[in-house]
Formats: sequence, C-alpha cells, structure tokens
Amino acid sequence: MEIFIGTEADCDELGAREIVKQIKSKPDSVLGLATGSTPEGIYRRLVEKHKNGEVSFARVKTFNLDEYVGIPESHVCSYHYFMDTNLFRHVDIDPNATHIPDGNAMDLNAECRKYEEMIAQSGGIDLQLLGIGPNGHIGFNEPETPFESLTHVVDLTDSTINANARFFESHEQVPRQAVTMGIKSIMQARRIILVAKGAPKAHVIMRAIKGPVTPKVPASVLQLHPNVLIILDHDAASGLTDLSK
Ligand code: F6R
Repeated sequence: MEIFIGTEADCDELGAREIVKQIKSKPDSVLGLATGSTPEGIYRRLVEKHKNGEVSFARVKTFNLDEYVGIPESHVCSYHYFMDTNLFRHVDIDPNATHIPDGNAMDLNAECRKYEEMIAQSGGIDLQLLGIGPNGHIGFNEPETPFESLTHVVDLTDSTINANARFFESHEQVPRQAVTMGIKSIMQARRIILVAKGAPKAHVIMRAIKGPVTPKVPASVLQLHPNVLIILDHDAASGLTDLSK
C-alpha cells in the first residue's frame, strides 16, 4: 500500500495524473469511478487535461460504483447527473461506454447481475477510484458487508443517510437504498486509488489503514490488495502517526 499526503490541490493533481497515466499506457482502459465531493477536483483537472490535449477518453470504458434506488437519472442528486455534469459531458468519452447501475430497474437483482457481467465482459477494471464514507464504507458497502459481495442492493445506514443529506434539500429526501458494486467487485480491480480529504475522515482513515482488516471497516480490506495508492490531504492523514506499515 502506497500512501501520498499533500494539500488538497496536490491530491487532485496526483489523482488526475494517475488516471491520465493509466489511459496513456492503455487507451482502452476500463475505469471504475466514484462520485461524492472527494473526486470533484480530480474530475475538474481531468477535464482541463483533456481540453489541453493531454488525454483522450475516446476508447475508455467506465463503470461507476453505485447509484441511489428510486430517484430519476435527471435528479440533481443522482450519480448519473453527477457524472454527466462533472466529467462525461466535458470529455470525448462515448456515452455508450459509460456505465452506472440503474437504480430504477424493475428487477434490481437482475440489474446487479447484469452489471457484474458487463464488468467481466469488458475485461475487468484496470483502475478503480474510491472515496471513503465516515463509517469506512467504499462504494455503498456499509460496515459488515461480506468481503465476498458482488454488485447488490443495499439499505443505507443512518450514518450514510446523514452524511449524504447535505446534497439533498432535506434529510427525508435521501434515498434509503442504493445499488453498489460489492467489495469483491472492487477488489478485483487491477489497481485501486482511494482518496480522502478533511478532518472528519481522519479517524476512519487511521482505522482503515492501520487497524485490523475487518468487515466492520469495509475500507480495511484494501490492506489485502497488492496495488493500492491512498491519497490523503493533511487533515485526512492527521490520525496516522506511523506510516511504516
Ligand atoms: C460514491 C461512493 C461513496 C463515497 C463516500 C465519500 O460513489 O461510492 O463511497 O465515495 O461516501 O463521499 P464524499 O466524497 O462525498 O465524502
């Protein structure tokens, strides 16, 4: 596990540079993407790099980690809307090569199976970008999710509903369920980059990186992956006292 600590701007630049490096080494890369406030700066820089002619997404395929159940794709808080406005519409990616779980599918379990099949058919994820929830979730894999889990429907915990209420007009509007790639789906990626920013993430980052590997802290599973980069701003890193691990 490699750990980088820097300013928020350093984190955004490194995250974007790692993605550009991946695409340059394999123009038809399959990227696993995250939403939320953490990757916004990375996506802004990717758009700049695309506009400067540094990178083309023309042959890239993407799979997003998750989507809420039961809000329209056009809803400003949907992850479809997030990806479109933060990245996809600003770069030369083929919209048919972008994938986000359908949280309005009639049969959500069939949608989950289809999503896994599509990832497998694409050859698997080359580079998976992750944020981390205050309770240690990755994707929407809440504490106690089995490490063997594939894409599935999840009941969001109060911690996640509270954390995400800031994006909605009211707490009541936050969906109670989501479709998320599972922990196993994430761990199958060939390389993983987890980004965390801000003091509220410091404690969970310390537990994820230095604590025992346990489903109680889903992100701790990353200690078992052979190719992980953790990108932290100084505040998120403030709970780490010994980085020798
Ligand atoms: C988003 C996702 C979540 C977020 C996490 C952190 O697609 O899968 O795991 O990465 O909730 O969210 P922010 O970045 O808003 O703190």
